[in-house]
Amino acid sequence: MSNWPYPPIVAHRGGGRLAPENTLAAIETGARLGHAMIEFDVKLSKDGQIFLLHDDTLERTSNGWGVAGDLNWDELLKVDAGGWYSGAFKGEKLALMSEVAERCRTHHMMANIEIKPTTGADRETGRVVALAARELWQGMTAPLLSSFSIEALEAAQQAVPELPRGLLLDEWRDDWQALTTQLGCVSIHLNHQLLDQARVAQLKDAGLHILVYTVNSPRRALELLAWGVDCICTDAIDEIGPDFRA
Ligand code: G3P
Ligand code: CA
Repeated sequence: MSNWPYPPIVAHRGGGRLAPENTLAAIETGARLGHAMIEFDVKLSKDGQIFLLHDDTLERTSNGWGVAGDLNWDELLKVDAGGWYSGAFKGEKLALMSEVAERCRTHHMMANIEIKPTTGADRETGRVVALAARELWQGMTAPLLSSFSIEALEAAQQAVPELPRGLLLDEWRDDWQALTTQLGCVSIHLNHQLLDQARVAQLKDAGLHILVYTVNSPRRALELLAWGVDCICTDAIDEIGPDFRA
């Protein structure tokens, strides 16, 4: 089985449910609670900047609107990405991946970078994110790249084969072994509801590490860890804290 340096608990979208997702405020919240690893979503602006956002469009998590990938970074910087969550975060900006890398360096946190391409930009996003991640995380634990997009993972693999990759699935696929082998994945990242103990054993026997999302029940987290799951990605970053297993 491959080297796996990552901790058992991962703060989903940086700060889970305690801060506006995928912002620097979220990253700082995860760090303040002592989390050793954060997950966040990245995509490309029209002018090729790598920034954090979950959705294709801006409406849900900002006061902007439309497809984020159609805008240049200077336009995206005008958006308020915190006020939708609470008044306390009003004025929070969208974040660049480079800024997140610096926070990871400062706080000694590891990263799971989810490549979340704007529709149709899969290959370019996978390539550009992998190349930038290699540069930005120099001297730190290698970031774990993941994506639901097979094209993005293929492009990342071709551009920077040495960075670890995980295949994200939100439904069970019987061809998981062929896919993870083809993409050179060290891990599989699954909706936890897809798993039972037998499936965990099957995946582990194949040499894969397992990350599950999004687990907000401490009881369920304990069950999954007891089955052999390696990483719990959670929004409940206070209840399921960095020392959860201790
Ligand atoms: O990477 C795990 C999880 O973040 C995937 O789902 O929709 O929260 O990005 P989503
Ligand atoms: Ca994600």
